[in-house]
Order: sequence, then C-alpha cells, then structure tokens
Amino acid sequence: MNISIFGLGYVGCVSLGCLSQNGHYVVGVDVNPTKVGQINDGLATIVEKDIDTIIAAQHSLGRIRATTDFREAIFSTDLSIIAVGTPTTAQGHLNLSYILNVAEHFGDVLREKAIINPDAFHVIALRSTVMPGTCDQIAAMIEDRSGLTANIDFSVVSNPEFLREGTAVYDYYHPPLTLIGTASERAGLVVRSLYDELPAEVVVADIRTAEIMKYVNNTYHALKISFANEVGNICSALGIDSHQVMDIFCKDKQLNISNYYFKPGFAYGGSCLPKDLKGLQTLAHDLYLKVPVISSIHRTNEIQMQRAIAVIMEHSHRNVGFLGIGFKAGTDDLRNSPAVELAETLLGKGFALSIYDHNVRMSELTGTNKEYIDRHIPHLSRLLVKDARDLIQWADVLVVCTKELEFSELLNNTSGKIIIDLVRLPITPDPTNRYIGINWSHEATVLQH
Ligand SMILES: NC(=O)c1ccc[n+]([C@@H]2O[C@H](COP(=O)([O-])OP(=O)(O)OC[C@H]3O[C@@H](n4cnc5c(N)ncnc54)[C@H](O)[C@@H]3O)[C@@H](O)[C@H]2O)c1
Repeated sequence: MNISIFGLGYVGCVSLGCLSQNGHYVVGVDVNPTKVGQINDGLATIVEKDIDTIIAAQHSLGRIRATTDFREAIFSTDLSIIAVGTPTTAQGHLNLSYILNVAEHFGDVLREKAIINPDAFHVIALRSTVMPGTCDQIAAMIEDRSGLTANIDFSVVSNPEFLREGTAVYDYYHPPLTLIGTASERAGLVVRSLYDELPAEVVVADIRTAEIMKYVNNTYHALKISFANEVGNICSALGIDSHQVMDIFCKDKQLNISNYYFKPGFAYGGSCLPKDLKGLQTLAHDLYLKVPVISSIHRTNEIQMQRAIAVIMEHSHRNVGFLGIGFKAGTDDLRNSPAVELAETLLGKGFALSIYDHNVRMSELTGTNKEYIDRHIPHLSRLLVKDARDLIQWADVLVVCTKELEFSELLNNTSGKIIIDLVRLPITPDPTNRYIGINWSHEATVLQH
C-alpha cells in the first residue's frame, strides 16, 4: 500500500520504518525540513533501539522517503496516518493546532484530488492522542473545506498508538491490541489491513471510545505507579521490603491483577474494604507520610454515593423500590452496605421505600450484622417485602443495588417503570421502561455483557 505519515517524531518515525519493513511504500511529511532531510538521507529522526537500522535498510530499498509537500503526499497515497504532536497548553487543554493545520491541508488537497479522481476514498488514521470528538471535528473541517462527505469520499478513523519510548520498535510489533475507532466499515478494513502481520487482537469500536482509551490507559498507568510508590513509602518506613510486598501483590491474579473490580457502577462497601483502607490510611498518617492517592479513594466512594442519590432524586416520584440491600449479591451482610446508606438517605428525604432481597431475613440477622442494621435502619423489617412482584407493582422507580441474576428475569418482564441500575444487570428491559445506568448511557435498551 502507498501510505503517507504526517509528523516524523517518535510515533511517525517508528511507523514509517515498521510499515515499510512490512512491505508498504511510505512517504513521511513534516514541517521540519531537518527531519525530512534525515529520512531522505536514510537516518532516523529519533534515538530508539533498532529504528536506525530499519530506516537505513528501508531507505536503501527505496520504500521510504520524506517531504514537506503535503499536496504531493496526499495525492500520491490513499491512506494517511496523522502522528503530529498534541502537547498540553498552559491551562491543561490539548493544543490541537498541529492537527488542525494538517486537517486544513487535507480539506484543500482532497477537494483538488476529487476533481481528478471522483471515485477516490481517502482514509485518514489519527494516531496522535486526542480527546473524544476530535476525529469528528477533523472530518467536519475537511468536509467544509473540500465539499466532500465524510465516510463516503473520505474517512477519519481513530487508531491510537500504544508504543512506549525506549522499546518503541518492539512495542510496534507486539502491541497489547490494535484499536480502530470508526464509523465506516470500509475505512476500518483499510486500517486493519495495515496490521495484518501483527499478532495482536484487533478491536473495532466507535470513534469516541477509541479516542478516550489512551487517556484511560495512561491515567491508570500513572495511578499504578503512584499507588506502588505510596505503598513503598509506607513499607519502607516500617522496614518492610516494598518490592517483596508488590511481588506478592502481583501474584494474586484473581483479585489484584485481573478484570475483577474493574466495572463502573455503585460505591464499594462491606465489612473489609472500607475498614482496611482506613487502616492503611491511618498507618500512613501515624508514620507522618503523605499518601494522597490512598487517602482520596474514600472520597471517590462518597461521590459515587452522592451520584446515586442525585440520579434517584432526579428521576424519582415518591415510591422507590430497592432490588437488593446487601453489600453485594449472594450475601445477607448489611454492614457498610452502600445500599443501606442509600436507603437511609432516601428515607431521611421523605421517600417511601420498599426493599426486596431474598438473602436478607430479619429473623436470621445476628451479631454485628444485626447491630449495624439496628443502628442504621431500625425499622428495616417493615420495609422488606417477601415477593419482588409486590414491590415492582408498588414502586414508581426501581433501584437495582446488587447484581442478583433473579432481578434480570424480573425486570425483563416489567413495564412502565423507571429502572435505575447501579450494577449493570444483564437485562433487556421492555421499551415502555425508562432505563438509567448510574454511569453508562445507553439509549438502546439492549445491554451486552
Ligand atoms: N511518544 C510516545 O511514546 C507516544 C506514544 C503513543 C502516542 N503518542 C502520541 O502520538 C502523537 C505524536 O507524538 P510524538 O511523541 O511522536 O511527537 P513528536 O513531538 O516527537 O513529533 C511530532 C512531529 O510532528 C511534526 N509536526 C508538527 N506539526 C506538523 C504539521 N502541521 N504537519 C506535519 N508535521 C508536523 C513535528 O515537527 C514533529 O516532528 C502525540 O499525540 C502523542 O501523545 C506518543
């Protein structure tokens, strides 16, 4: 394939070398004539393991070249990769000026190209890291300047880059996955074909999902490092080997290094998580250590509780029915259950509440579990119903607090209700229901799990 790459920095230079090594003819475009000259002399524009030999070899095979001439590069290719920088402004926003400059060129040149070749379909893969909505912004800009139609005459596809500096060539050939965000199947297939040789899974998503992924990934990586550093600081103050601690931590592939606990939803609770988090926080405090990541976790949990209250209040009439009250599905443990706190708050605000949870039988509550409920909702027994169908009939709003599969069946057969789902139950609600997820927006009523 003939490919043009805009931006010959880290991402652009590695893509140029690796794509040509995979047999493509690639022209690099940069506003910096020094970088263009380097490529045309068979030299890499960056210092990175293996890239110098790849660029030299591909240059001598005649598969790579570079230019400052946007028009010529766009005319001579049908697939372009944008890899220009997206630095942060002083206010913390993204500086899109380099990207928008490239988009302007595309608008002008594609207009000209369409006159000569009206059947051309130019695919633009945006590899730079950008905020959700940027691909559409670029497409609209190109439409304005060219008079062409996105996804018919050309398409802008999100194709984020996952390489790390220092191991960039290795990462290019071994990405964790290949992500393509597109509204055009045709454009998606073109971009996909670029990576046929790579061993990674190809994930196709909508554009805005693909665009946000780099931010989610990199924020999580920063969180991992900061968490490990805070744990390390606590351990070292206690004379405990922090590396051994994190080695042991990483051995738990069920709860620690796993998909578990990674689904957005309601606040956490229970008898252990809040208590042990508080314990570590207090330990750090007593050691005169600042651990802002660890200390802020509970605040996020409180915000999630406030969010649930706000969603219920926004959509609620008076009668609220809770499906589930335990701290999670399959248990009658009510201690520190976020649903109990939610119930307490709603009762305090004057809502009428009814609760169904087949795990919870008042007569069987004992010990600290009973004490907890006596302290928080002493009249819980009056709120509990034995038959979920009575609750569903009575309530205007149903709040799903635990992920009991029994609730899916019940709600699949419910009509004319507002369903507020805090746990993303697998349901296909009747279209007469209004379905609201606490932090996922689904206009569609069919949920995939
Ligand atoms: N560096 C990384 O490890 C890495 C990894 C993944 C994603 N990214 C993202 O990829 C993008 C590029 O990063 P980078 O590190 O390669 O940037 P870079 O600063 O190394 O290179 C950007 C290049 O774009 C050129 N350029 C600027 N304006 C231009 C224009 N109008 N037309 C053509 N070329 C232009 C610059 O001269 C420069 O050579 C960024 O959005 C970055 O966040 C970077």
